[in-house]
Amino acid sequence: MRILLTAGPTREAIDPVRFLSNRSSGKMGFAIAEAAKERGHEVILISGPVNLDPPEGVETITLESAREMFEAVRDRIGDDVDAAIFCAAVADYRPKEVAEQKIKKSGESMTLELEKTDDILGSARSVFGFEGILVGFAAETNDLEANARGKLERKSCDLLVANDVSRTDIGFDRNQNEVRLFYADGREESLPMQEKSELGREIMSRVEGMSM
Ligand code: PMT
Repeated sequence: MRILLTAGPTREAIDPVRFLSNRSSGKMGFAIAEAAKERGHEVILISGPVNLDPPEGVETITLESAREMFEAVRDRIGDDVDAAIFCAAVADYRPKEVAEQKIKKSGESMTLELEKTDDILGSARSVFGFEGILVGFAAETNDLEANARGKLERKSCDLLVANDVSRTDIGFDRNQNEVRLFYADGREESLPMQEKSELGREIMSRVEGMSM
């Protein structure tokens, strides 16, 4: 299969030296990319800024912002992609104005006005017209099942991989993760805590199963 993957965080500029971002290290997305490559698939990995080496033999596109990630996915998802897996922790909001020069300290407080970014996963079907296997992630701190099922439906995914990011032993920047899988046909599956590399293989085996 030809697989498109997003991974890592995005950075939303405030001024030339500051940005809004999150704790994603890229480890989960890179592990899936490596597993996919290992299992003989062709992989396009679209990643925000991370401190990881690009997996060998994987076409890796690195970028910074949600807008750039949206454009990269839009430009590549039509290239005969069989499955698209959205593991990136994309910023939901960005500063409305980006200052051209470093903002100087003044006053006791400051207010940043934010605007919504593009929902890349949410655009896959409705804007990009993607018809392949669509896999989303959900990073939740509460009401995991209800939130994950909501995302699965709203974004027309075939599979939603949900993790509890309130835990400090899994999720963001850890080598291990534990996830629950919610399928569009109503099935649900729990994958126990394990190395992200192993989990990447498990997730890929489910994606392969859906292509049959
Ligand atoms: O990178 P690691 O340190 O290894 O951590 C892994 C992880 C915790 C980041 C990963 O397992 C994970 O949960 N990724 C999804 C993070 C996220 O942004 O979740 P969300 O629930 O906010 O978003 C839901 C889905 O929409 C995700 O598939 C996300 O990629 C996508 N999205 C969100 C916002 C947006 N503007 N565009 C999107 O495509």
